Amino acid sequence: MRLNDNIAIVTGAAQGIGRAVAVTFAREGADVIVSDINLELAEKVVDEIRALGRRAQAIKADVSKSSKVNQMVEQAVNNFGRIDILVNNAGVNKLLPSDDLAESDWDWVTGINIKGQFLCSQAVGRQMIKQKQGKIVNIASMAGHYGRPGGLPYCVSKGGVLQLTRTLAVEWAEHNINVRGSQL
Ligand SMILES: NC(=O)c1ccc[n+]([C@@H]2O[C@H](COP(=O)([O-])OP(=O)(O)OC[C@H]3O[C@@H](n4cnc5c(N)ncnc54)[C@H](O)[C@@H]3O)[C@@H](O)[C@H]2O)c1
Repeated sequence: MRLNDNIAIVTGAAQGIGRAVAVTFAREGADVIVSDINLELAEKVVDEIRALGRRAQAIKADVSKSSKVNQMVEQAVNNFGRIDILVNNAGVNKLLPSDDLAESDWDWVTGINIKGQFLCSQAVGRQMIKQKQGKIVNIASMAGHYGRPGGLPYCVSKGGVLQLTRTLAVEWAEHNINVRGSQL
């Protein structure tokens, strides 16, 4: 019960790594906001968490849209009172040779993977600054460290996540906000 009574938001939590994080947090005693664009699957994760005896809510939010992210945070704070942990997990990939990559492919991948982590960190960070504490975990990738043929927007965005993490970590340390990344 290492997270006893913490309130956590996990983005992209309807499946995959995000779902595993959300359920593991609940097993450790956290209440979890299960955020995703796929509300139907997110509701199933909420059922799993409630079966563990923790509070949970599914919130549909596209992390690449500031209005949706701000609504998500407002709803979470209204319903749970505070946010102790944010896990920026939502991420997508588009594998294509760079000379075939469309502007829309670039915008989709970077919009979710890097701008999305910025928007969620900013909206939740404002709340954590008021609370004078919080923890933010950004899911990066080994692809942020090296080039991968056909993976340009993914590699660029995950490299960006590393710098987003390092910069917010030093900027928000004075507010007692601990910003960490996977695969830093
Ligand atoms: N799977 C891997 O091997 C691996 C390796 C390194 C890093 N990662 C990273 O881990 C994270 C999760 O990966 P995964 O494999 O579990 O992915 P996944 O595709 O299984 O799940 C991603 C989730 O994000 C949601 N999502 C997609 N677009 C969204 C948006 N605009 N707003 C909100 N939610 C959105 C999807 O609906 C889905 O539920 C990603 O950031 C990914 O880059 C994964």
